[in-house]
Amino acid sequence: MCGIFGYVGDRPCREFILTALKALEYRGYDSAGIATISSKGKISFVKKKGKVANLDDLLSSLPAENTVGLGHTRWATHGVVSDRNAHPHVSQKFAIIHNGIIDNYLELKESLSSSGFSFETETDTEVILKLLEKNYSKELGIEKALLKTVSSLMGSFALGVMVLDCPEVLYILREKSPLIIGQGQGENLFASDLVALAPYTKNFFFLEDGQFARIKKDSIEIKNFDGSVCHPKVVNLSDYELSTNSKGSYEHFMLKEIYEQERIVSSHIEMFYDLAFEKQRELGVGLKDIDLSKYRQLVMVGCGSAYYAACVGQYTLEKHFRIPVSVFLSSEFHQRKMHVGSDTLVLAVSQSGETADTLAACEYAKSTGATIIAVCNTPYSSLTRLADFTMYIQAGTEIGVASTKAFTATLLALMTLSYSFAKKLGTLESDELSKLIQNLKALPEKIKDVLSCAPQYKELAGKYSNCGNFLFMGRGHLFPIALEGALKLKEISYCHAEGYAGGELKHGPISLVTEELPIVAICPTGVFYKKMFSNMEEVAARQGCIIAVAPRENKEVKGIAETVLHCPDVDDPFLQALVSNITLQFFAYYVALKLGRHIDQPRNLAKSVTVE
Ligand code: M6R
Repeated sequence: MCGIFGYVGDRPCREFILTALKALEYRGYDSAGIATISSKGKISFVKKKGKVANLDDLLSSLPAENTVGLGHTRWATHGVVSDRNAHPHVSQKFAIIHNGIIDNYLELKESLSSSGFSFETETDTEVILKLLEKNYSKELGIEKALLKTVSSLMGSFALGVMVLDCPEVLYILREKSPLIIGQGQGENLFASDLVALAPYTKNFFFLEDGQFARIKKDSIEIKNFDGSVCHPKVVNLSDYELSTNSKGSYEHFMLKEIYEQERIVSSHIEMFYDLAFEKQRELGVGLKDIDLSKYRQLVMVGCGSAYYAACVGQYTLEKHFRIPVSVFLSSEFHQRKMHVGSDTLVLAVSQSGETADTLAACEYAKSTGATIIAVCNTPYSSLTRLADFTMYIQAGTEIGVASTKAFTATLLALMTLSYSFAKKLGTLESDELSKLIQNLKALPEKIKDVLSCAPQYKELAGKYSNCGNFLFMGRGHLFPIALEGALKLKEISYCHAEGYAGGELKHGPISLVTEELPIVAICPTGVFYKKMFSNMEEVAARQGCIIAVAPRENKEVKGIAETVLHCPDVDDPFLQALVSNITLQFFAYYVALKLGRHIDQPRNLAKSVTVE
């Protein structure tokens, strides 16, 4: 979950590295550090607990003229968040940065300690540094010492290493954590992510697991851990566009991203549907040609919000595919070693395309012969490179840690995939597409309606900011929305929130009902309205406090709920889920705002969870 970056060239690099770390900060913001090396081999470094910006004032203590360096932004796995545990870890001979987890670090630490090594930090990374010191000698050379070192490691790593004895070289090594090299002119760079490299070059090498590279300003050598030389082709991404990371006039990226949903929905509709002729346009190359007849099961995997989006998608995919469709948390899926094979189609849902559990799930599924379709926001991510096909959700870069526009865009992508595949399979009922088109025509207006209620949501949500606990309830497509609404609230407000299927209320959670526990009931007019209303009656009968997500015109709901968060009715349960969720995004946002939380970078979280 950490972000790593390195530069070797002719430019003074300290500011350069700092800028790159700011671009990588979404991967972790517990601490940050930079090390640079002089041409004579003197390593200087700064590191500090907290956000990357905390390095601003320390930067001047690094020599201005150094042109080779490493940077790191940390999401703590082993060892508390502190200056001491921040990377780079530096010894007399080396500076190293690490993204990943060393699973056997305790055994290694014990054995190193008994050979006389002492440790200054609680990190797993320091074990790598000490191993390297133990293994390195001028006679053996750095390359062999590095390979000997990584051969003892179990777990995942993307490592950047700077060596006192060869100050003009950076070494990087990869096992299950992303590493990309950017090839410049008279300079080369590496990073965990394209966002940190794209401002400087369009030519990249994507390192594979079990590879390492020796990078100098005018050369890049890539080898396998067995020492054999690799000749990867440089990938030119001249079409890769960096979106501008500006909040504009919004107070937070999250708020900006909530508002962007209207545009994202409209462009999705325009891209995939011909509203005038009531037709669906073809999917892109690859996806449109996929032979669906051979699949006997469809499995969806994802984590967090991506998982909940998949749970909503399951309803429509199941209806259209007419084969068993199951949804798994990625971590559970690969740990259980599910029965999948060449008759299985896997839809892997991930905004970032870098989520370690989702990648592991796909690697496992792929090894059994399954076909993978990535539903992803990030071009050239590890997931899209691993998958057989990709449906891009086209949400644009999402900066807020809480997923908003990516969730909505994922729902749209799953809906469109489902209808396109139904057409191919011949399972689409005659008037179904035309009904969908009618609903899509109305959708942007419904979203506008929700967005226009922001001031009311702000006022209403503010009333509940002191309630430490919340329960969310929904049925059918709105059950996963209850889960997502609860997740959004807890991650940015730190209030405890749980989501339940309305039908489950009487099976336990009803014992929690008191005047103090707000129950957020997602209750639009539709197939489940009557049953949801009964749930609300049951809560009201016990003096429970109800916050209903329902049209403001619904007098019945108004009569029973303490608060109504207006959400228009939508004549399609799938799209209703999409619209209701935006109301809940606002609710979470305004509760968190009232509480003065770090909305875009909530505590303990990172945008991409790149360790299992
Ligand atoms: O990048 P991914 O979609 O794979 O990320 C999955 C989850 O980590 C992510 O959705 C997380 O739950 C969000 N912070 C929720 O808002």
